[in-house]
Amino acid sequence: MALDLRPLFADAGDLPARTPSPMAAAMQGSAILAIAGEVRALRAAGEAVANFTIGDFDPSLFPIPEALVAGIKAKLDAGETNYPPAVGMPELRSAIRHYYKERLGLDYPEGTVQVGSGARPPIYSAFRSILAPGDVVVHPVPTWNVRYYVHLNQAEGIAVVTKPENGFMPTLDDLLPHLPRARVLVLNSPLNPSGTVIAEDLLRPVCEAIIEENRRREAAGERPLILLYDQVYQQLVFDGYAHTTPVHLVPEMAKYTILVDAISKAWAATGLRLGWAVAPPWIIGRMKPLVGHMGAWAARAEQLATADLLAAPESTDAFMNDFRGTLQSRLRRLRDGLLAMKADGLPVDCLDAQGAIYLSARFDLAGRRLVDRTVETDEDVRSVLLHGAGVAVVPFTAFGYPDRTGWVRFSVGSVSDADVDAALSRIRSLLA
Ligand SMILES: Cc1ncc(COP(=O)(O)O)c(C=O)c1O
Repeated sequence: MALDLRPLFADAGDLPARTPSPMAAAMQGSAILAIAGEVRALRAAGEAVANFTIGDFDPSLFPIPEALVAGIKAKLDAGETNYPPAVGMPELRSAIRHYYKERLGLDYPEGTVQVGSGARPPIYSAFRSILAPGDVVVHPVPTWNVRYYVHLNQAEGIAVVTKPENGFMPTLDDLLPHLPRARVLVLNSPLNPSGTVIAEDLLRPVCEAIIEENRRREAAGERPLILLYDQVYQQLVFDGYAHTTPVHLVPEMAKYTILVDAISKAWAATGLRLGWAVAPPWIIGRMKPLVGHMGAWAARAEQLATADLLAAPESTDAFMNDFRGTLQSRLRRLRDGLLAMKADGLPVDCLDAQGAIYLSARFDLAGRRLVDRTVETDEDVRSVLLHGAGVAVVPFTAFGYPDRTGWVRFSVGSVSDADVDAALSRIRSLLA
């Protein structure tokens, strides 16, 4: 008979008071996952809900490349089931360098790639390699999970509030006052949550300021300022916009830049867990044992199958064109529907869909009486859209943006055109 251990855990107690680590006690879970739970509960109760909350893909709408599935199976059949090297399989590291040379025009030397299980371990280990407790991380808001990594490293985060007219990207003026204190600056383009792309004329002066700051530090014998540039959505940039990198704009930035990337978004392969960082060898050298001790490798068979595809980038072009085209048309369908409401005088606005899988929209509902409440906060906006229109979105407050702006994120990774149309018509009814 098995021992019944449940009674031992009947009194879970107050976890924060009991946990030995203040860092872990103060760690927050993902705000988005909490919203997802509410959506599930509504659906279970039979309500029609269009779920625009998740930064992930419904595999029935957006499957991964067939060649990747076949490649992984073939590698498993060939017995590729052992530990990979902590830094990544040599075939994959070399294929990533080849891909960057072909597609980004960046010819990195050997020793500049660290592979991990998705983009997160490279991000975490990069921060861990560079930051001492109390170091300053400057990051624009709205931002994806950067705030959590700041906390994990007991660093000091400086959130720079960006403006919609700049596509929620920071300008040099926004950043300049903070650079002298910063150890790491984080930029992300295309940006989660806004679906916008950083313009060259915004990024270039920031890079030049980093170079200037680092010349000063080098002369003074101080540690450099590092740019962590998250480009996990780099292939998902839509017509009229272009992806750029700091290193392409200002080559000397290669000495101070960590490029973060993954197959998670580019190939709709979030669950496969394969990502990487491309960075100066002195940073990679420190990341390697961290990833190794975490065991945060990507599976060996996946690494080898991904290497085959990246080594011949044209092999996934057809997939990518189709995937990007569908995302673009779905996001622009949503944008057009919201802008049509705006033209009819309804209190909604949105930015252009420039890249990634997201659209930024603003609902100007403050003071309105809707569903069960008078709308005040952005959480109220989210709640009335969900309960009044069956439309689940994430307010920008979940990404560290100030409250009461009305900005929310729509993600189209798990919705069809029909879902978009139905959601638009329910939003129209609610706002009217
Ligand atoms: C901007 C950004 N960076 C990094 C990640 C993490 O990617 P991965 O799933 O490969 O760890 C995400 C995931 O949502 C993201 O949106």
